[in-house]
Amino acid sequence: MNINKPNQLVMEAKNLIRFFFLLSFGAFMIFTSCVKEGPMGLPGVDGVDGVNGKDGKDGKDGTASCLACHNKTTKTLVSTQFAGSAHGTMPNKQTGANCVACHSAEGFIESLTNVTTKTFTALTSASPLNCESCHTSHKTFDFANDGPDYALRTTAPVKLFMDQTVTLDLGTSNLCVNCHQPRSTKPAANTEGNFVVANNRFGPHYGTQAVVLDGRWGYHHDGSTAIPGVGSHAHRKNASCTSCHMHDGSSTTGGHSWKVNPASCTSCHPSINSKEAITASKTEFYTLFNQLGEKLLQAGALRTTTAGGLEPNPGTYPIAVAGALFNYRMLYGDHSGGIHNPAYAKALLRNSIEALN
Ligand code: HEC
Ligand code: HEC
Ligand code: HEC
Ligand code: HEC
Ligand code: HEC
Ligand code: HEC
Repeated sequence: MNINKPNQLVMEAKNLIRFFFLLSFGAFMIFTSCVKEGPMGLPGVDGVDGVNGKDGKDGKDGTASCLACHNKTTKTLVSTQFAGSAHGTMPNKQTGANCVACHSAEGFIESLTNVTTKTFTALTSASPLNCESCHTSHKTFDFANDGPDYALRTTAPVKLFMDQTVTLDLGTSNLCVNCHQPRSTKPAANTEGNFVVANNRFGPHYGTQAVVLDGRWGYHHDGSTAIPGVGSHAHRKNASCTSCHMHDGSSTTGGHSWKVNPASCTSCHPSINSKEAITASKTEFYTLFNQLGEKLLQAGALRTTTAGGLEPNPGTYPIAVAGALFNYRMLYGDHSGGIHNPAYAKALLRNSIEALN
């Protein structure tokens, strides 16, 4: 039996009475107030439209800045150039502990953890450089404030490992300086004023580009040609490894071919506008360079190889001769025909020739 039901009905009836009472009171209030106010007026005339606001500035396309590099055309071009370059093929890969820092992808990454020495774990097999040797993740994605950072692995100034007192700061090109730096210093005289050339590899090795560009590292004889100041040449101040070797990478030169595009010279030298013009601009250097070679051959410091080239002849030489031989080897290893620093290269050659006269 449901004993709650009658009670519930009573409650509902009471609520109903209270509801009707409130309803009739409300209706009375509305009625009396309608009587006090007059009838509603006609709607007013529409106001004149306001002047249009100025258009906002266009927003930046969220990915446009990324697509400048991250697209198929760029990737194909860069990869093709790279595949044909000396970095991508590395015909002179090396596995030795003293060599891997510059001559292998593996050793280079390891070398960046400790730049004060170039001696690292020997490898069983060395790989040529790859994209990740020089690029990592972007440092920041804040392109608006930081500019595109090209995701370079390092752009830190480089302390030369053969002379820790020298730090080179070439901006983006610091990446290159890590490897394109010398492997020995200029000769110093013993108590008899001589120097012993120990083997036919005497000299600062082939990576002398960074110091030649900066105008240092050579043996400075007291000669009639003034040695230009360190860092003074226009090629050091207003050009860079990347501006000459990676200029406009849209063809077979520049970019990731690292072959000099003559267009990188033209803005400063309007007449140097072709490969041939670059070669011609080396003439004065090679005239002096070959004169020095001849003098060193006469002094016995150079000897001819079976292949017909010239190489250091081991032996004991007066320091002026050993210094001249060092300069010859440094400018040979630089491989630019003096272009990296024409003023410094020619001053070294002139004074070296004078010292051998
Ligand atoms: C100036 C050229 C350039 C621009 C602009 C650029 N990138 Fe990159 N980005 C690179 C290069 C170079 C790499 C390294 C490529 C490689 O290792 O194959 C890279 C790598 C990356 C990677 C992989 C990172 C990793 O951890 O390996 C991502 C993700 C990336 N970019 C996203 C972006 C985005 C998003 C933008 C736009 C906001 C952008 N990039 C703009 C050149 C650029
Ligand atoms: C990991 C060390 C390393 C870095 C970093 C590096 N290079 Fe090289 N580079 C080499 C080596 C080693 C060779 C010679 C490769 C061979 O003959 O096996 C070379 C070759 C070259 C050549 C070509 C020589 C030829 O015979 O065609 C040029 C030009 C060059 N580098 C310029 C640069 C520039 C510019 C940079 C910076 C953007 C740079 N390199 C960064 C190690 C490096
Ligand atoms: C500090 C970096 C560095 C170290 C360490 C180094 N090299 Fe090199 N080496 C270079 C660079 C850079 C070039 C290429 C320069 C060029 O093409 O003008 C080069 C070029 C060469 C070449 C090619 C020479 C030619 O005729 O063009 C050989 C061979 C070579 N190195 C052997 C070695 C050996 C062997 C070792 C270890 C005993 C070694 N390198 C250590 C930077 C280095
Ligand atoms: C020896 C070092 C080195 C290697 C290896 C290298 N890059 Fe670069 N890359 C650079 C440098 C330096 C720049 C900046 C050039 C500048 O400032 O003008 C750059 C710029 C770029 C850019 C932006 C500018 C452009 O050329 O479009 C892209 C994209 C790029 N690299 C992709 C790659 C890819 C992909 C690979 C592998 C196939 C690669 N890089 C290998 C050094 C390297
Ligand atoms: C003023 C422009 C300029 C600057 C700056 C410059 N180079 Fe060069 N470099 C040249 C020219 C020109 C050659 C000769 C190449 C030719 O005739 O094709 C050359 C040659 C080289 C070679 C030898 C190439 C070969 O075929 O054997 C290497 C390696 C090299 N430069 C690396 C560098 C490095 C590393 C830097 C920065 C420290 C640098 N260059 C700065 C213009 C420049
Ligand atoms: C930023 C401007 C600039 C660029 C880029 C440049 N040069 Fe120069 N170059 C100069 C200046 C300025 C001098 C004279 C400097 C001096 O004698 O002290 C000079 C001197 C020279 C000299 C010596 C001329 C002489 O009579 O002694 C040669 C050769 C040369 N440059 C070749 C080149 C080549 C090749 C390139 C391109 C790979 C190039 N330069 C790129 C500014 C530039």
